[in-house]
Amino acid sequence: MSGRGSSTKDALSTSPIIPAFSAEGFILYQNDALEVMARFPENYVDMIFADPPYMLSNNGFTCQNGRMVSVNKGHWDKSKGFEEDLKFHEAWISACRRILKPEGTIWISGTYHSIYQCGFLLQKLGFHILNDIAWFKPNAAPNLSCRFFTASHETVIWARKDKKAKHYFNYEAMKNGHFNGDFIKKENTQMRSVWAIGTPKPEEKEFGKHPTQKPLALLKRIVLASTKPGDIVLDPFNGGGTTGIATKVLGGRIYIGVELDKAHIDLTIKRYNAVEVQPTLFS
Ligand SMILES: C[S@@+](CC[C@H](N)C(=O)[O-])C[C@H]1O[C@@H](n2cnc3c(N)ncnc32)[C@H](O)[C@@H]1O
Repeated sequence: MSGRGSSTKDALSTSPIIPAFSAEGFILYQNDALEVMARFPENYVDMIFADPPYMLSNNGFTCQNGRMVSVNKGHWDKSKGFEEDLKFHEAWISACRRILKPEGTIWISGTYHSIYQCGFLLQKLGFHILNDIAWFKPNAAPNLSCRFFTASHETVIWARKDKKAKHYFNYEAMKNGHFNGDFIKKENTQMRSVWAIGTPKPEEKEFGKHPTQKPLALLKRIVLASTKPGDIVLDPFNGGGTTGIATKVLGGRIYIGVELDKAHIDLTIKRYNAVEVQPTLFS
């Protein structure tokens, strides 16, 4: 390779990545998550929530509002086979590990299509699993084939970077906060690892739909449980920006979202502009 070729490559790899949107405590990058994370210093962020591709968009069908519809979410969600999917997950989870502070924590959500690979890799890469939350969806769509159980939960793994470091857990808020609509959580009792939260409400989709948008109540609970004001929260697979919106609503934190698709960045900006900080007793 000529000297000239390699210097061009070096210059490219160090050129700054300009945010697609930046407001007080809220930054969005329209890029590949690996590329953006490579620019961050080590031990930089306090908490990561990652909702990576599920790898389930392989032409199956599901039921929506009583109609049979394709399960396909987008080309980004296609499986490339077991080994390639594992490599992809290992690359981004390793990148997260490098930039997470020693006392920081990571949450990864998924269904059985991806969550076992992610859980395996968290352990392989030296994380310490704190919980695997079962997010139960009381209003999940029925099963069309009637040949197996209706899928009605997702798993959200919560892990810390370092087993010996003291991670943050807002025990008080989780025990004494109000979690309207979650019939499993009883007043003034410890929060259990099964959370009953419905799929996103229509008002959460008023600016458009992301095919795998998470409910705001889920992300508010996660951000509140594991961060304090001043913390930096990163979502490498921003999607429609639910993590960022939860962060803004709770106030005081800094949010960084990374997303490949401009339409999803635009949706996030619209949602950002429409929400207000709603301080909670337990923030
Ligand atoms: C499961 S969705 C996230 C949904 C999000 N949690 C929400 O509530 O809206 C995953 C998102 O990651 C994006 N994505 C996929 N591969 C990516 C990559 N390498 N870098 C950045 N974003 C990526 C997809 O475009 C998709 O919007």
